[in-house]
Amino acid sequence: MKKIILSSLFTFVYLLSYCGEGMWLPFLLGKLNEQDMKSKGLKISAEDIYSTNKNSLKDAIVSLGGFCTAEVISNQGLILTNHHCGFDAIQNHSTVANNYLKEGFWAKNNAEEKTNPGLFATFIIKMEDVSEQILTGVNQNLTEKERQSIISKNISSISGSYKKEPEQDIKVVPFYDGNQYILFVTETYSDVRLVGAPPSSIGKFGSDTDNWVWPRHTGDFSLFRIYAGKNNKPAKYSPDNVPYVPKQSLKISLDGVEDGDFTMVYGFPGRTQEYLPSVAVNQVANVLNPIKIQIRENTLESMNVFMRVNEQIEIQYASKYASIANYWKKWIGESQGIRQTNAVEKKQNYEKEFTNRIQNNPTWNSNYSTLLTQLNDSYKAAEPYYILRDQFSQIFTNNEMLTMTLQIDRLIKNSENDDEKTWQAKLQKQKDAITDFYKEYNADLDRTIFARIMPLLSIKDSKLIKPSKSISLLSDNKNNYELLSNSLYGKTAFKSKESLFDLLDGSREKVIKKLKKDKAYIFATDISSEYYSKVDPKIKEYQEQINKLQRSYIKAQMEVFTDKKFFPDANSTLRLTYGNVAPYNPKDAVNFTSKTYLDGVMEKYKPGDYEFDLPKKLIDLYKNKDYGIYTDKTGKVPVCFIGSNHTTGGNSGSPALDANGNLIGLNFDRVWEGTMSDINYDPSICRNIMVDARYILFIIDKYANATNIIKELEIVHPKKY
Ligand code: ARG
Ligand code: GLU
Repeated sequence: MKKIILSSLFTFVYLLSYCGEGMWLPFLLGKLNEQDMKSKGLKISAEDIYSTNKNSLKDAIVSLGGFCTAEVISNQGLILTNHHCGFDAIQNHSTVANNYLKEGFWAKNNAEEKTNPGLFATFIIKMEDVSEQILTGVNQNLTEKERQSIISKNISSISGSYKKEPEQDIKVVPFYDGNQYILFVTETYSDVRLVGAPPSSIGKFGSDTDNWVWPRHTGDFSLFRIYAGKNNKPAKYSPDNVPYVPKQSLKISLDGVEDGDFTMVYGFPGRTQEYLPSVAVNQVANVLNPIKIQIRENTLESMNVFMRVNEQIEIQYASKYASIANYWKKWIGESQGIRQTNAVEKKQNYEKEFTNRIQNNPTWNSNYSTLLTQLNDSYKAAEPYYILRDQFSQIFTNNEMLTMTLQIDRLIKNSENDDEKTWQAKLQKQKDAITDFYKEYNADLDRTIFARIMPLLSIKDSKLIKPSKSISLLSDNKNNYELLSNSLYGKTAFKSKESLFDLLDGSREKVIKKLKKDKAYIFATDISSEYYSKVDPKIKEYQEQINKLQRSYIKAQMEVFTDKKFFPDANSTLRLTYGNVAPYNPKDAVNFTSKTYLDGVMEKYKPGDYEFDLPKKLIDLYKNKDYGIYTDKTGKVPVCFIGSNHTTGGNSGSPALDANGNLIGLNFDRVWEGTMSDINYDPSICRNIMVDARYILFIIDKYANATNIIKELEIVHPKKY
């Protein structure tokens, strides 16, 4: 039965590959996509893209820190990724005196490259379908817990016995909501150093105003280098480590692109949910997104007040601001796109068709007749809990005092049976985290955020939680959050590292005594303990139900719609997506072409503006038309282009490759109208945004004069014009 499911699963995938939709598994390209890709223009083979028999393009692709993609572009381990992927690293090396965010950074030699503790690069050595082994002993009648425990056992047994090199790791990951399991053999390098970054006025040009927006003019790239031990194997950071010599590095093409050209993007997309029922899509777009959007909007407004007038705070909060703003804007675009393309209605029609087909087939009918109703009921029943989850998690992460109270609360809870020595050891670890935390903290700013977002979780009116101590603290302050915030922040030990260290001085009992008097701590933990005792368990319960139903729903869809294409949802594993360079028409009478130029950068230039200012050097290069070899046939410098490749968060830094597998650009974003592609890909408006490789080289060469970097690259230019 299992075999039948899996093999039919692949047949369906095979039948249905067209458009840009889909994030495909590299090891199945030969079987599922090669023919289609060739018909669309691919000139190399599936084996050139992924192989375990010879070096292939996959050997140049890494997951960077687990949150972005990067690719090897020289035989000395140089890797290319986005400026926003390297942002945190660049920020960590920046001070007011040496502000690399502002001025850019270019190492002139290996010795000047900067180390980044915690940053790593993971190569995929091999992937293999292990569904049969992992699903042995699993059947329909098991509870989710029983199922999970069998699967965990099977995973640890296969992971323990799988043949691998000592420096390699094994990971087994579910696909299609657990209908399929794939094993990955990986190699992780943890010495990754900063090599180069343009100033933010290039690498982040347009900042949040232009984020998720086309037309785009951002040179969103930065460069790092992977270091290895003397044997070229992964090694902890050491000054003795040497540049990693890769199996494969990407050639960079100066050809550029034209509309219709075949493109592919190779990387680590994070998460999509393409197979949700209409009820869930509606819930995301119209119930949950608006809640999260509002909380982040208030947070950002508060941050802005402080950041735009104080450079110190601007640096401290730059990375946090960018990441809060990023999804704030994405969710707005996602909800709009879902409405604009009638995605809910389309899903409803699809469900009607699904139901029709089921009713006409006795086997399907007996397996799946109540499936959709059950799914809908579960999503509906879970809704009030999901609302509280999103309010709670957004508020307790966007307000950092609350975040820290939860960390300390956890420390206390996890140390109940500790002897003094263990307690002191844990405390020391926590203190290190606290030291890092307060380096990038401003209590006034945080208090303002508190006063603006705390009211968005109405503790007094909630039907699900009753944090009585918090409610009474609020009424002590006339039910006014401004007054409450002043009173809490005025006295709490959580407002600075020093006062928190004082509080944490002493035995566990002593610390608890002090915490019990800290009103901010009382306020926060009263809410969190209500949340964790009354909401969280319900969420887990619903999630189990929903997981099980979704697993059956995707299986059912694959059986019923033999004419539709099914690729596994993104799950931070290596995927290849392919499409074409393509313009789009987001609304009536609005047509966007597919390429932008340096002229457009100059059009957006606003001297002194924090988002649209430009470095003088770039302006001079433009004035003097000092473009080097980095123009296209129009004689202009290309900056960005768009295509119909299906990408998502995590694909940042992924290479955009041409039909020959040469690097022609660097993926960094999607167009706003198309961000709903995480839930519902629509080829008419979903586009990914890439920086043109020629702009990257132009900046490295002509702007930064970093000839040491240019010399390392293999630049190809097969097309002549
Ligand atoms: N939207 C892109 C992504 O999802 C870029 C984000 C970084 N830029 C920014 N202005 N926040 O990661
Ligand atoms: N900027 C995103 C990232 O960091 C990629 C854009 C997207 O979500 O498609 O991965």
